[in-house]
Amino acid sequence: MQVNGTPYRSIWRDGTGAVRVIDQRWLPHEFRVVELASCAEAAEAIRDMWVRGAPLIGATAAHGVALAMTEDPSDTSLAQACATLAATRPTAVNLRWALDAMRAALAPLPPARRAEAAFARAAEIADEDVAINAAIGDHGLPLIRALATRNPGRPVNILTHCNAGWLATVDWGTATAPIYRAVGEGIPVHVWVDETRPRNQGAQLTAWEMASAGIPHTLIVDNAGGHLMQRGEVDMVITGTDRTTARGDVANKIGTYLKALAAHDCGVPFYVALPSPTIDWSLKDGLAEIPIEERSGAEVTHVWGRAADGTLGAVRICPEATRGGNPAFDVTPARLVTALITERGICPATPEGLAGLFPERAAVLRAG
Ligand code: MRU
Repeated sequence: MQVNGTPYRSIWRDGTGAVRVIDQRWLPHEFRVVELASCAEAAEAIRDMWVRGAPLIGATAAHGVALAMTEDPSDTSLAQACATLAATRPTAVNLRWALDAMRAALAPLPPARRAEAAFARAAEIADEDVAINAAIGDHGLPLIRALATRNPGRPVNILTHCNAGWLATVDWGTATAPIYRAVGEGIPVHVWVDETRPRNQGAQLTAWEMASAGIPHTLIVDNAGGHLMQRGEVDMVITGTDRTTARGDVANKIGTYLKALAAHDCGVPFYVALPSPTIDWSLKDGLAEIPIEERSGAEVTHVWGRAADGTLGAVRICPEATRGGNPAFDVTPARLVTALITERGICPATPEGLAGLFPERAAVLRAG
């Protein structure tokens, strides 16, 4: 995507071979690019959310393994790098998927060939993510077009939660890919951006993406979505996901479940856009089986932003004695999901729906 007229991805290697990412902690106030110089730095970037979003976490982990291979290409180093990176964040399954892909590519090779092969595989993972998200955009576009046709002259009102935009992937985003495509086609859209407490990925990142692309949008508090849906002011909801089970249960940023409940009650279609590496074929029951990250309570007791004097920092918003509880994700049961938008097309959030689009995975499951 363009930032001030320059095309960017969220992770890339520059002309010197250095791995660079956008340090998302500073957005929307400052656009900072940093180098990830080691596997340890890649792990820190994921853990401390310089980068975030399930697909980007996977792509960063892949580059982290490649950096480890330049430091020490031994079997021990490969195992250690994968273990360190796997321990950074528990919910997004793309992390495990990317590490499995890197291990499969590197383990059979002699150590001397691993660093080059690792960077090549990491670049492939990044390129595949861009292609996958572009395809999600192609498949999601007709849904928006149909709503626009139904109400000519009125923008399609789309509500989204968290940031499942290009910053959360390598490019295009998942939930935002159909939106960018619709805008490119001249379809009028307006995006309701949930602020997404406590880290405010909606306010800081999705709003920044929408503003940068000139897409009409309004920032709302997390609790406003149900009210807007009751009043007919939301035509569809599109979110991303960090892990979707083989039967279509969806883990995503905390608060997604409440949006799905409200959408169900109000008859508003609730779509989840996802790349196939976000499907955890080993799990069925999302509520029982998906690990939910518990983050620091300080993210709840404090809010980060820019003060009137221009300084950036955190302010406490509750009594000193009050402790914050911070489950970072929740699970939306498949029955509340209207459909899943994947790179292979749209399907119901059911085992049969997913198996229909990914028969090769379903065959492996049956055999297992
Ligand atoms: O904690 P985060 O910011 O990593 O959470 C991100 C989300 O919940 C996104 O919606 C999800 O990863 C899908 S990104 C395409």
